[in-house]
Amino acid sequence: MTETVLVVGATGNIGVATVIGALRSGRHVIAIVRNQSSADKLFKHVGSKEGIKTVEADVAAPDGVQRVVSKVQKGELPAFQHVYTCVGGPYSDTPLQEISDEELRLNFSLSFEANFFAYRATIPYLLSQKGTDTTFTMCTGSQGDAGQRPPPAMTQGALFSMANCAALANRDNNVRFNECYLTFRVEVDEDAEQHGVSKSSDFAAVYEGILSQKNIRSSRVSVFSPEDFTNLRVKSIPQVPTA
Ligand SMILES: NC(=O)c1ccc[n+]([C@@H]2O[C@H](COP(=O)([O-])OP(=O)(O)OC[C@H]3O[C@@H](n4cnc5c(N)ncnc54)[C@H](OP(=O)(O)O)[C@@H]3O)[C@@H](O)[C@H]2O)c1
Repeated sequence: MTETVLVVGATGNIGVATVIGALRSGRHVIAIVRNQSSADKLFKHVGSKEGIKTVEADVAAPDGVQRVVSKVQKGELPAFQHVYTCVGGPYSDTPLQEISDEELRLNFSLSFEANFFAYRATIPYLLSQKGTDTTFTMCTGSQGDAGQRPPPAMTQGALFSMANCAALANRDNNVRFNECYLTFRVEVDEDAEQHGVSKSSDFAAVYEGILSQKNIRSSRVSVFSPEDFTNLRVKSIPQVPTA
């Protein structure tokens, strides 16, 4: 049976890398997209439609991903064994005291809540597949530690804590929860070439590694440099001993 990866935030820089990594690992993809133009953007950046099924949903809505899971349960979409979430809002540098209510809520809605909703909607479905190697992977970034861009930094901080909770909750079950902590810029290949940053197609190797190395679970996979794309730096989380 060919396994399938559900990608939430599939049309962004990290989402495209995830789709490429999933396809390279011999899996199929269900890509959640906002609309047809986002789907077309995804196909263009991946360079193919082969193995990719798109489904439209509002991932920022509390029940957006849940509706996709319901379609899977009704047999309207293929079953999936793996989930990757990487929804993100604007990468702004507004100083803390100048962040408006709207900017704060938009950032938390997209860069935190949407990833939480993806987890809440899919974990029961993954857990129901007892005896199967399933994974849930979430992308975070070093802004949460660096603090140079307050709106995305604060949402990264919330994601770090969520990763701690998820790592603990899934330590002894069939779901390998992992956080991918990326410390530098990755963009879809066309943009990366223009901006001199790393390419999604190269970063894709990290996800291939997480999928194939079944000992990686409840861990942070840190990516400090392109050398880490293929030599995964894996550390158990939470990193603070619990009482
Ligand atoms: N890229 C990096 O180098 C990097 C490094 C460290 C951490 N990260 C983290 O990884 C995550 C993704 O980053 P990225 O660079 O891939 O971001 P991105 O290219 O901006 O992609 C964001 C994704 O979220 C979706 N999205 C944005 N606004 C939406 C909305 N209102 N409704 C529904 N979907 C929406 C986008 O859909 P559309 O395509 O339809 O807009 C896209 O799929 C972020 O949390 C970011 O902090 C990224």
